[in-house]
Amino acid sequence: MAVSQPESSNPKSPERRNFFFQALAGMFGSLLVAFPFLSGLGVLLDPLWRKSNEGEMIRVGSLDALPPDGTPVKFPVLSDKRDAWNKFSKAPIGAVYIRLLPDKVCEAFNVICPHAGCYVDFLPERRSYLCPCHRSTFSIDGKINDPKSPSPRGLDPLLVEVRNKKELWVKFQNFQTGRSDRVPMA
Ligand code: FES
Repeated sequence: MAVSQPESSNPKSPERRNFFFQALAGMFGSLLVAFPFLSGLGVLLDPLWRKSNEGEMIRVGSLDALPPDGTPVKFPVLSDKRDAWNKFSKAPIGAVYIRLLPDKVCEAFNVICPHAGCYVDFLPERRSYLCPCHRSTFSIDGKINDPKSPSPRGLDPLLVEVRNKKELWVKFQNFQTGRSDRVPMA
């Protein structure tokens, strides 16, 4: 005589299948909720672990742009700029003056005046730099020209390299203003 088994003890019963599908749906639903939450958390925390582009070697121009007489040329410095939540490709992050020294060696200065952060201008007729804000003057080699200049130090030199015979690369860095020693910006 055949003995019928209770329905719940059958491994393929509809109740077990329902439980399995409900558990699966629950897990899937949790993942759907967690994914945007974790993505949002990543965006929120991104500035905390992001590194600044300052201090990196950046290509700024060509050796061909430098006059042989040593007159400095201003180059914008472009890099992937980031503010707290956005990233901009090849945006200006500063500028440098580069000039040719004898033997194709180059010299570079940050254009920012160490007094209070204005951009200095190079005056070809005087062969020197002038800050338009409070009139600090700097000689062509970046030193303070006039003892009355309010700038506490000379222009900030930057490492410059010629790569692949013509490319000008600069280790770009900003420094704190208003102090006599050179302290890189964080
Ligand atoms: S910012 Fe240049 S002299 Fe004041």
